[in-house]
Amino acid sequence: MHGLSVPASLDYFRQQVKNWQAEWQGTIEDFVSQAMRGSDGAHDISHVKRVVENAIRLGVDEQADPEVLLPAAWLHDCVCVSKGSHLRSQASRMAAKAAGEFLIGIGYPAQHLPAIEHAIIAHSFSAQVPPELIEAAVLQDADRIEALGAIGAARCFVTSGTLGGEMYHPTEPIAGERAWDDRRFAVDHFFVKLLRLPATMKTQAGKRLAATRAAWMVSFLRQLADEAGWPVEQLDEAIENLDQLNS
Ligand SMILES: [Fe+2]
Ligand SMILES: [Fe+2]
Repeated sequence: MHGLSVPASLDYFRQQVKNWQAEWQGTIEDFVSQAMRGSDGAHDISHVKRVVENAIRLGVDEQADPEVLLPAAWLHDCVCVSKGSHLRSQASRMAAKAAGEFLIGIGYPAQHLPAIEHAIIAHSFSAQVPPELIEAAVLQDADRIEALGAIGAARCFVTSGTLGGEMYHPTEPIAGERAWDDRRFAVDHFFVKLLRLPATMKTQAGKRLAATRAAWMVSFLRQLADEAGWPVEQLDEAIENLDQLNS
């Protein structure tokens, strides 16, 4: 690709990202690494770094403001509440508050704080707060993309293991007679939540990326079914039901 075909706004966004990184990233990354020490394997500093990369990737197209988007992405999980906890639905509010206090402490431009806090609160599935700003929509998509594809599958099995769950139901891997139970079975979580995420994406680039990654997850399930000897018809039926839901 040669520079002449790149629209000016793209260059401008990239430059803004670089400037922001030079000024703030080191301090914020130190804080986040410290704050997330001891959090579970699906919500660690590598997750945060990938969400930041996803946010930059989607933020270009949406002309998001890096001064809001980047601190929100870096700090979105800075208070980690485990999936089993009753405080779970409060986690993103707690993270927004901690992020706000931290940013004030380092002298971050105060006019951005309300937007940053909103984006952090709205990123969470369980908070059920609709994103009202493009930066919030981008962050929500960037975080949901992390629940899809190979990374999404890996994170799902890690979380399930942490909560004492199993890979799949021993006698009826794909629910038919029984109800889905994604607290106990990792594969159930694909059907209860993960494969439904593409329909919730807010940005165009996010929708495309989510669709690609969800398609990979379906082939992963087919491979799993093949290796483990599950009845394929039942898997096909469950996937068809999801397709109807998503269309
Ligand atoms: Fe989160
Ligand atoms: Fe996250």
